[in-house]
Amino acid sequence: MLEALDRARLVVVTGKGGTGKTTVAAGLAVAAAGRGRRVLVAEVEGRQGLAGLFGRPALDHREARVAEGVHALAVDPDESLREYLARFGFAPLARLLTWSHLNRFITAAAPGLGDVLLVGKVWEAATREARPGSAAYDLVVLDAPPTGRVVPFLRAPETVAELARVGPIRSQADRVRALLDDPGLTAVVLTCLPEELPVTETLEGVAALGKAGLPVAGVVANRVTGDRLGGRGARLAALARDPGPLAAAAAAAGTGLDDAAVATLVGEARDRQRQVARERRLLKELRGGLDGLPLVELPFLAGGVAGPDGLRALAGQLAAGSPEHPASGRTRRAAGTARA
Ligand SMILES: Nc1ncnc2c1ncn2[C@@H]1O[C@H](COP(=O)(O)OP(=O)(O)OP(=O)(O)O)[C@@H](O)[C@H]1O
Ligand SMILES: [Mg+2]
Repeated sequence: MLEALDRARLVVVTGKGGTGKTTVAAGLAVAAAGRGRRVLVAEVEGRQGLAGLFGRPALDHREARVAEGVHALAVDPDESLREYLARFGFAPLARLLTWSHLNRFITAAAPGLGDVLLVGKVWEAATREARPGSAAYDLVVLDAPPTGRVVPFLRAPETVAELARVGPIRSQADRVRALLDDPGLTAVVLTCLPEELPVTETLEGVAALGKAGLPVAGVVANRVTGDRLGGRGARLAALARDPGPLAAAAAAAGTGLDDAAVATLVGEARDRQRQVARERRLLKELRGGLDGLPLVELPFLAGGVAGPDGLRALAGQLAAGSPEHPASGRTRRAAGTARA
């Protein structure tokens, strides 16, 4: 995954709804910037999910610097259409029309054209050469639509170009495809949770993306419950059956915890260990289905990931890799310690 961050021009982050696409996209952007790349992170669904993570009230179609080495952009369909029309010499027309007029016309003329504009804007940023007034980036990270919609979204230029065998729409679609299909330039990352349904959907998503010829670079298993007890977890079952000795020790130490309180604490620790075991089983199943694709684990951050501090912590985790796939130069043990 780190290798993808270091070499790709475009990282597309997709995944089932609510599994952490936006958070991971922002985290990957910060991690890549920490590795010296100039990064743009872009969202395309008008959700304003990125803004808060960078401590901003909102983002818009202007690329704004949001952190060291990171710019962010909320791609606006209206502005993308204006840019698109201007590129093909229709600027005066673009000034006259409102998005609602155009939107009605476009949806009727060619479903998916709205997506063409969004994908086109991302392509433009990822392939842009630096010139006065506009920055060039080493990497664009896209907070993409969810797994169920990502293939038609990324293939929208292709679908629309099928109507136009030649001309600017066709050649634009060819250029977008050249970027998206190249595993040296594009890396698709899927976010997943260590839960039954997301694991199944992730494996289906990986298969669908592969079938569409899109280069999948790996999966981020997000919000993984940390195993704080390791091998000692097994002793919890015996303690839960008979918390007596522990309760006696607590009383002798003057902790103020009575038998019921100790039993509750032990019971909760045991439930957490069960959760850890359930997640390990699901992650094993996920890994097994991934056929050697990298799987990076991100811990559940108790305080959530609501702003720049949480984001920095997450980026640190992404840069450290996970114990099964340690980043180069780190030992298995060092990465494990970082995760804990
Ligand atoms: N590692 C983590 N630890 C704790 N909370 C997390 C973690 N990653 C994400 N979250 C929280 O989970 C929620 C969902 O994350 P996020 O919005 O990134 O998901 P999403 O896939 O973009 O959702 P949507 O499909 O709605 O766009 C957010 O409240 C976020 O703060
Ligand atoms: Mg999101």
